[in-house]
Amino acid sequence: MSRLDLFINRMVSQRACLDHAAAMTRSMNGPVFELGLGNGRTYSHMVEKMPGRDIFVFERAVASHPSSTPPDDMLILGDVNETLIQALARFGATASLIHADLGGHNLEKNDAFARAVSPLIEPLLAQGGLMVSSDRMYFETLGEQPLPSDAVPGRCFIYG
Ligand SMILES: C[S@@+](CC[C@H](N)C(=O)[O-])C[C@H]1O[C@@H](n2cnc3c(N)ncnc32)[C@H](O)[C@@H]1O
Repeated sequence: MSRLDLFINRMVSQRACLDHAAAMTRSMNGPVFELGLGNGRTYSHMVEKMPGRDIFVFERAVASHPSSTPPDDMLILGDVNETLIQALARFGATASLIHADLGGHNLEKNDAFARAVSPLIEPLLAQGGLMVSSDRMYFETLGEQPLPSDAVPGRCFIYG
């Protein structure tokens, strides 16, 4: 499979999983967390698909498209290894949806990072909430959930 195919599969799956998780958690009141702003493409999609829901963005260095940059009061700046711990003190287990797209091109590094941040993410999710990730996560209590039919297995994961 070409790198273009892999990229397209990842994007299609990311959108499908986000849309699915947004619909499944629509009735929940808790905040939504976007971990990794990047260019802001998934953030912009989440804003469009989840009107009225508070979307907090975790990012160490903002470099997003101006049209997809969150307002200052919804931005949690810094390394997620620190800001996720602070978020637990601030929000508790209230997040209705958490989306993580923190990885780069090195799959081994991404996997090691996913293992490291999994225990920091897990306690933030509210009962009934969903966590969507581009990488496999390593949770103790959350289990892998079925993917929507338009997602490609292995390119996106949903936990709850
Ligand atoms: C793949 S990009 C996200 C792309 C985004 N989903 C989009 O659609 O444009 C990953 C982002 O995660 C951020 N990131 C990676 N490691 C981080 C860390 N330890 N703390 C905070 N942000 C981090 C990077 O700065 C980068 O902006």
